[in-house]
Amino acid sequence: MTIDQTTENEIQTQAFAAELARRFGPKAFYALRGDLGAGKTCLVQGLARALGIDAAVCSPTFTLVNEYRGRDGARLVHIDLYRLAGPDDLDAIGWDDYLDSGDAMAVEWPERAGGELPPRAIFVDIRIGDAPDERRFHVTAPDAP
Ligand SMILES: Nc1ncnc2c1ncn2[C@@H]1O[C@H](COP(=O)(O)OP(=O)(O)OP(=O)(O)O)[C@@H](O)[C@H]1O
Ligand SMILES: [Mg+2]
Repeated sequence: MTIDQTTENEIQTQAFAAELARRFGPKAFYALRGDLGAGKTCLVQGLARALGIDAAVCSPTFTLVNEYRGRDGARLVHIDLYRLAGPDDLDAIGWDDYLDSGDAMAVEWPERAGGELPPRAIFVDIRIGDAPDERRFHVTAPDAP
């Protein structure tokens, strides 16, 4: 299935993220694709809020991974692979353990993971629109088995 949505500001992007969280639940894996500044981290902030996470979500650009725990025990793993040297380095961040954990995952720059994305990955492609604050989201989720 696919979903298309255009937003005009960060608030709308976070509201759209909340919609995705409601639809796909607390264990979804999101692969977020888009240029620098597209709004990937902004979307993760909306996902976190929707999962009951109060902590401020910031980009794990240097740490590669940030883990958050929500009020109701939901967990979100936010990974930014921009600085990953190659798929071999996924071991070093504990990639397989995260995949097995059943936690919600949001991964920026998933292209860097090569073929290591799980089949359940929901792809979110983000493009900057005509206006500076316009963002176009195209979501592709695998059909339920
Ligand atoms: N409609 C919108 N939705 C989300 N962000 C927007 C929107 N309009 C403008 N912005 C701005 O775009 C930027 C998005 O930054 P963000 O850190 O989310 O990008 P990113 O895709 O995570 O980039 P990076 O690859 O560098 O991590 C912010 O500065 C935000 O204020
Ligand atoms: Mg980011």
